[in-house]
Amino acid sequence: MSWIDIDQKHIWHPYTQEHTAGPNIPIERAKGSWLYASDGKKYLDAVSSWWVTAHGHCHPHITKRVSNQLAELEHCIFAGFTHPRAAEVTERVLSRLPKHQHAFFSDNGSTSVEVALKMAFQYWHNKGQEKTKIIAIDGAYHGDTFGAMSVSGRSSFTEPFKSMLFDVEFIPFPGDGTEKEAIAAYHAIASTGDVAGIIYEPMVQGASGMRVMSQECLTEIITDAQSKGIITIADEVFTGFGRTGKFFASDHLVHPDIACLSKALTGGTMALGLTTCMPYIYESFLSKDPLKAFFHGHSYTGNPIACAAACASLDLFDKKETWDAISAIEYKHSEFIASISSHRQVRKARCLGTIAALDIQSGDTGYFNPVRERLYPWFLQRGVLLRPLGNTIYIVPPYCITEEELHMVYALINEFLETL
Ligand SMILES: Cc1ncc(COP(=O)(O)O)c(C=O)c1O
Repeated sequence: MSWIDIDQKHIWHPYTQEHTAGPNIPIERAKGSWLYASDGKKYLDAVSSWWVTAHGHCHPHITKRVSNQLAELEHCIFAGFTHPRAAEVTERVLSRLPKHQHAFFSDNGSTSVEVALKMAFQYWHNKGQEKTKIIAIDGAYHGDTFGAMSVSGRSSFTEPFKSMLFDVEFIPFPGDGTEKEAIAAYHAIASTGDVAGIIYEPMVQGASGMRVMSQECLTEIITDAQSKGIITIADEVFTGFGRTGKFFASDHLVHPDIACLSKALTGGTMALGLTTCMPYIYESFLSKDPLKAFFHGHSYTGNPIACAAACASLDLFDKKETWDAISAIEYKHSEFIASISSHRQVRKARCLGTIAALDIQSGDTGYFNPVRERLYPWFLQRGVLLRPLGNTIYIVPPYCITEEELHMVYALINEFLETL
């Protein structure tokens, strides 16, 4: 059997109804913004392969640091042992979050959220107060593990598991005209005094359709929560590392007590999660009582190769060219969004940093809007990977994308709109 046949016969792919899905596109190599298939076709990766690829595929600097690391130390247990790359990535990330002094490694975005929730719950437990109420935001997506699902909006994704998810207090989305309701709902819950923490995607909810929040409203909520001792958890898994035009989306707001990082942390090279926190959280785990320790860890915690990839990516974030590229995308996106916003088929065009999105005037907003079934293959046939979220078309490109490549994506979106 060829490897492609093995895939079709045996591999169960994510977010895929295997009964009706066609064969997967076989990718053999990638470079910059492009994925190259074994049948000679190529695809412009306009979604940064699920929002992870920051500097482009197979970036030579990341490749070099990863291969050097591979020859030196590929892995070692992280309980009782440590290594220089973990220290380097920690110091460099913490320098961008000045109120945070500790970092806990895990494997991906969902685990970085699990760690944050467990830190928050155990913080209260260690202090002898059983606070377990968490506030989250309608429509949130924080990952697919049980804790992360619990704090995510209830949706078709979570439906089969709903009786197993822990209770969370959801407040309305702080944007799109429901700001006042969000603030009122937040205050009603926060004033009860038994809230452990609040978790949010800073500035933009990705998976629920690139929904941009009101900076003012979210800042008011975070600031008030901090004044009441409610632990604020910013899930920067999607928004971190330049995606919203600033290093962290929390730089548009107030920095949180805990931050969850992953995706572009390694520049999109490998899986790595990091949860950072303020000293008061960490200090609540320090005790002569061994049971106050944080009993959490994964076999690959702090993997040196993933840390080397993160360090290499951070080297690139230290370069002016990366930020110039981010600003250039931001500028081009805003021109495109302005040009398209009054199109008869466009409902709401928006952009923030390197994220551009628009909703097509077609039925309800939501992942299962049937227009997606037309959109996705239409773009692929024309060599562009866009993965619409229901009727929301969005562009989240790698920062190395050229002006010409961006124009190719914009032109195709325009062309598609004319077919409607
Ligand atoms: C905001 C946010 N948090 C968490 C996750 C989960 O990350 P992962 O898929 O790496 O588990 C995602 C994934 O898209 C995300 O967008």
